Amino acid sequence: MKWDFAGKTAVITGAAQGIGYEVAKGIVEGGGHAIILDLNEEKAKQAAAQLGHAEAYKIDCGDPKNIREVMAKVLSSYPKVDVEINVAGIISRPAFQDVTDEEWEKVIRINLTGVFTMCSAIYPYFMQHGGGRIVNVSSVAGKIGGGLMGTSAYASSKAGVIGLTKAIAKEGGKYGISCNAVCPSLTRTPMTSALTEEMNKHIISMIPLGRAAEPSEPAQMILFFASDAASFVNGEIGDCDGGIVLD
Ligand SMILES: NC(=O)c1ccc[n+]([C@@H]2O[C@H](COP(=O)([O-])OP(=O)(O)OC[C@H]3O[C@@H](n4cnc5c(N)ncnc54)[C@H](O)[C@@H]3O)[C@@H](O)[C@H]2O)c1
Repeated sequence: MKWDFAGKTAVITGAAQGIGYEVAKGIVEGGGHAIILDLNEEKAKQAAAQLGHAEAYKIDCGDPKNIREVMAKVLSSYPKVDVEINVAGIISRPAFQDVTDEEWEKVIRINLTGVFTMCSAIYPYFMQHGGGRIVNVSSVAGKIGGGLMGTSAYASSKAGVIGLTKAIAKEGGKYGISCNAVCPSLTRTPMTSALTEEMNKHIISMIPLGRAAEPSEPAQMILFFASDAASFVNGEIGDCDGGIVLD
């Protein structure tokens, strides 16, 4: 399904592969321009070349200074940026007793502070330009304390993204800025490719639809939130999880 992005430019983190790539693809297929920001510069460039109407920039979402530098460059290089979609994230799987201070700090820095800094870097620009749409990617782990794949640090970072999304929605609304988040569950991407057959079966047994998602499925919900079709949707946390959370 295509969403209309004609004449729109969207910045997407983590779009070199997986869910983010499908989002960038949907933006381009909808007639828009995709700015792919990813740590993996080579893959990001390949993705941009494959998609056409797309450019790639290297970014480290774990480095706030780098995020602000890259975003300053991006925002001054295009006539207008309309949408920001924050997909980049890392998984964390140690049992709670094995979560080191370093692991905790890294996961929170990339998954939560990275999303904060991306939002913070575009918020004044959106204020000056009459608004804009932000979509963040959380996870069912942020709602149910982890348990499908990610554990405590991951669940905490993704729960933080939900709180941040609602706060930006509340404060940004008066400037025409909307902020929504999508919570995927098990999705077939490079992030989940290392799961054993046994772990896959176990996770799938908890999903009412009885299967994992294809990356295009959460991407569809993200694209809806990013599009004008969701013009009055703000602060919504959408589950794309096959029926796990049911809230
Ligand atoms: N795949 C799932 O089952 C699943 C489930 C729930 C939520 N999610 C969330 O969806 C998002 C995308 O997941 P995916 O499965 O497509 O992951 P993925 O690992 O396949 O892709 C993630 C992308 O983010 C990039 N990235 C990682 N760290 C980065 C950093 N510091 N700076 C910039 N880019 C960085 C990677 O290079 C990669 O291109 C993540 O936030 C993840 O937590 C995924």
